[in-house]
Amino acid sequence: MKKITLPSQSALNHANFTFGVATSSYQIEGDRAGRETCIWDTFCNQPDTIKDGSNGDIACDHIHRWQEDVELISELGVDAYRFSIAWGRVIKANGDINRSGLNFYIKLVDALSERGIQSHVTLYHWDLPQYLEDQGGWLNRETAYRFADYAAVIADALGSKVASIATLNEPFCSAYLGYEAGIHAPGPQADAGSRRKQGRQAAHHLLLAHGLALQALRQHFAQSNAPQLGVVLNFSPCHPLNSSPEDLDAAEFAHQYHNLWYLQPMLTGHYPSVYERLPVEDRPQIEPGDMALINQSLDFLGVNYYTRTVFRANQQHGFKDVPATGEGLTTMGWEVYAKGLTEILLSLDSEFDNLPPIFITENGIATADVCDNNEVNDAMRVDYFQSHLLAVHDAIQQGVDIRGYFAWSLMDNFEWAEGYTQRFGIVYVDYSTQRRTLKNSAKALQQLLLARQSRHHAVEDIC
Ligand code: FCB
Repeated sequence: MKKITLPSQSALNHANFTFGVATSSYQIEGDRAGRETCIWDTFCNQPDTIKDGSNGDIACDHIHRWQEDVELISELGVDAYRFSIAWGRVIKANGDINRSGLNFYIKLVDALSERGIQSHVTLYHWDLPQYLEDQGGWLNRETAYRFADYAAVIADALGSKVASIATLNEPFCSAYLGYEAGIHAPGPQADAGSRRKQGRQAAHHLLLAHGLALQALRQHFAQSNAPQLGVVLNFSPCHPLNSSPEDLDAAEFAHQYHNLWYLQPMLTGHYPSVYERLPVEDRPQIEPGDMALINQSLDFLGVNYYTRTVFRANQQHGFKDVPATGEGLTTMGWEVYAKGLTEILLSLDSEFDNLPPIFITENGIATADVCDNNEVNDAMRVDYFQSHLLAVHDAIQQGVDIRGYFAWSLMDNFEWAEGYTQRFGIVYVDYSTQRRTLKNSAKALQQLLLARQSRHHAVEDIC
């Protein structure tokens, strides 16, 4: 069986570097009866939205199997678990708190903490309650204020027990895939202006939601021990198809539009300069004071990385992505490109003076896994983790402040528009029995992490 190894002096071996696994609520929880309907329930019900016609009604049945899942996480030898909270499991349509929903997360965090595992919480991983969508969702400014109220409820219930709280996961996907491309929930909205305008407006309200929630969280924790507060964004180095000035310009346009659209306002209070290149009718409506609200200080930045993206010039939109071809692609059709992770980390580090410490909050690969006699030989995933952990190591060596790494994902789950056709887990899920089986990649990570743990304990004993 393949192993994962790290250079012996690597900062990734230090006790203060956090290793974890990640999931999100809609992708694993199931138990639709215990929460309000969310936009993904509605989206999945529409024809031709999800590749295998599935939905998250049951998913990994985590709400009923969470104790088994906590044992699994503990067995892996990780320091931390990153998960998200389903807004509609905690706040009812009438605004009341759903106590049993909130208690679920309190029990989960307590059980993790009893096993010495830190909780890293994401407040919004795309499952907007349908009752808010019915009022316009992210096209309605009011949603940002509701988000800050919800953040305060979570701070109150979980705040002192968790290691970190991230406001949003990948607002790029919520705004761009959800409204502009329309391949994620809620899908394009009729009569609300052009798709690009909708996407930019949703993005602006998500940014505002982030700012308002951070403000509410900081106020809440002013007198007490605060968890680390931040946000999780996705990044992909944008490369030109060839070195023509047009393609170089397209790649830079895409970099600003995809990679910097969220981070730059958060860190500087300004949109990237390509904002000025958008036709006036596509620009979002920005109220006075919004940019200052968005520009809150961050304790950490969560970086999600999967692959790079290649772009060519396109007259209508400024850029067009060129899908990867050739051998060695993942089942998502994505190129395995580990050095892109080092590249994007270095580029963010040089672009922003006030870049906060970084956690790699997602990194992983979908492969065609088969469970045969309780064995899943996912050698490609082991190689992927190996090369990407070394990419993180390289970035640290070159001066980037990186504090942790979370593998996506703890287990196979509902992969959005791809349904259950893509397996990103290090643990295999048989959806007909809900049986969990450690893949070889989980065993390789486990070996690395348990050896690391026993070295840390040995050091503690000497001290
Ligand atoms: C990220 C999402 C996560 C999962 C991975 C594969 O964009 O945050 O939920 O779908 O991609």
